[in-house]
Amino acid sequence: MDTPVRIILVGYMGSGKTTVGKALAKSLGLPFYDLDWYIESRMRKTVKQLFDERGEDGFRQVERNMLHEVAEFENIVLSCGGGTPCFFDNMDYINQQGESVYLKCTTDVLVQHLKMGKTVRPLLLNKTPEEVVAFIEQQLCQREPFYTKAKHTLDVSLMDNFDKIQ
Ligand code: S3P
Repeated sequence: MDTPVRIILVGYMGSGKTTVGKALAKSLGLPFYDLDWYIESRMRKTVKQLFDERGEDGFRQVERNMLHEVAEFENIVLSCGGGTPCFFDNMDYINQQGESVYLKCTTDVLVQHLKMGKTVRPLLLNKTPEEVVAFIEQQLCQREPFYTKAKHTLDVSLMDNFDKIQ
């Protein structure tokens, strides 16, 4: 039996996991899964609703359960949420399930991407632009030790045609 291929993208919000994941899946001819979209369709609620109703801890529990469901599928490209690798033993589990790739990105570029995007990110709501920058810098420091456990790192800070990748 062939070993299943699972490419699992991790990285901060706005690093391009969904954009890169879709492009990668298309060129490899594999189905693409975005963990947030999977959660939303399975739970029939948006990520924001889950945060509002269950708090962040409740969302993380749902996220962990859904990660275990989706990461069992064979031959897929999966993009995780920005916080997924940083809770429970999720990053070790991700590494057991497939080829993990950390999309590394500077704060400046993350802020640019997040401004361009339309996704609602509960953790960034109700913050001034200055507060968003400070929050990202601080959270990135806390999260990097998890992200850098990925098997591969791709520096995506210099990709300037992000919005054009399909
Ligand atoms: C989160 C990132 C989001 C989503 C949720 C929490 C985080 O996913 O899972 O809003 O903690 O970084 P994206 O990284 O796809 O925006």
